[in-house]
Amino acid sequence: MAETVLAARLTGPDRVLRVEETKQGSPATEEVVIDMMYASINPLDTYVLAGQVASDAPVPRTLGVEGVGRRGDDLFVVHGHGVGLSRDGTWSQKAVVPSGSLVRVPEGVDPAQAACAAVCGRTAIRVVYELAGVTPEDRVLVLGATGGVGTAATSLALSSGATVWGQTGDPNKAEAVAEIGAETVIARSPEELIRAVMGLGVTVVLDPLGGSYTAAATQLLAPYGTLVIYGASSSAQTELDVRSFYRRNIRALGYGGVMEGHDEVRSGIGDALRALVEGNMRIPVRDRVSLSALPAVLEPERRRSAIGKTIVDVSLT
Ligand SMILES: NC(=O)c1ccc[n+]([C@@H]2O[C@H](COP(=O)([O-])OP(=O)(O)OC[C@H]3O[C@@H](n4cnc5c(N)ncnc54)[C@H](OP(=O)(O)O)[C@@H]3O)[C@@H](O)[C@H]2O)c1
Repeated sequence: MAETVLAARLTGPDRVLRVEETKQGSPATEEVVIDMMYASINPLDTYVLAGQVASDAPVPRTLGVEGVGRRGDDLFVVHGHGVGLSRDGTWSQKAVVPSGSLVRVPEGVDPAQAACAAVCGRTAIRVVYELAGVTPEDRVLVLGATGGVGTAATSLALSSGATVWGQTGDPNKAEAVAEIGAETVIARSPEELIRAVMGLGVTVVLDPLGGSYTAAATQLLAPYGTLVIYGASSSAQTELDVRSFYRRNIRALGYGGVMEGHDEVRSGIGDALRALVEGNMRIPVRDRVSLSALPAVLEPERRRSAIGKTIVDVSLT
């Protein structure tokens, strides 16, 4: 008999998120049922909700692109294979997911942080280790350092031995950057950022903000510096003086996790989990909310005031 579970579902045609009881389908071949424990909240979920991503996928459906859950005695990260995009996701007490979307969580990882390993953790690994190749000689500026990826990337860059500055536009969040161990840069605008950082000899900028922050980053980088762009939280558009790149031999690289194939995604999650086990990365989880709180938590103002990660704890009522 079909079981009823509580889930946060995108319902149509007005694309509203409703937390409601839903009938749990039976798993098909190569699918499994996972008892969800924690599910992460990512900007990607808000893009899906707004119809900017996966707008053609069927509705109603459960959202949430990652999380951790139990199957038998084992704990698994759930991510990929369309979970939360083209098919039901993780914002649910139970999830029916493709077996290929599971990666076993090793001993010694905090399950709450594991719930954020697939998106924030993997992105931090890619931008810090693989694209920027941060070394102890680097002087790294992390923009959006109080965010999910920002906090993870800051901790990774610090554990690589680099000197790290973390930017926030909110003085109330400055302490959170210092807690991770980076120097805090409070800059509410690209102009303030240039004033605060110019002359520090930054060799790497990690940029999830885009817009004029990207233009500022090209001015701040030392010769032969690296700019890694992986988001556009501020704006997708800017005006750049392209001479910055060739006159000072600056390189700009982009990262987009949604382009990765299944094997790449799995190995990236594995790398993120390993970095958590080894203590090289931390993903501060500041807030745990119930499924029922999701619509309120996703309000833009509440999202912007968050520090580090907010996750759904499905055991909370
Ligand atoms: N390319 C990929 O594969 C990939 C993967 C994951 C995330 N992303 C993107 O990376 C970005 C960060 O993701 P996240 O999970 O870390 O998000 P998050 O936790 O919501 O990040 C919040 C951070 O972004 C800053 N921020 C937000 N809106 C801003 C604005 N309008 N102007 C200036 N700063 C702003 C906040 O600054 P304050 O401290 O000043 O409040 C805070 O530091 C998002 O755009 C996301 O879509 C991309």
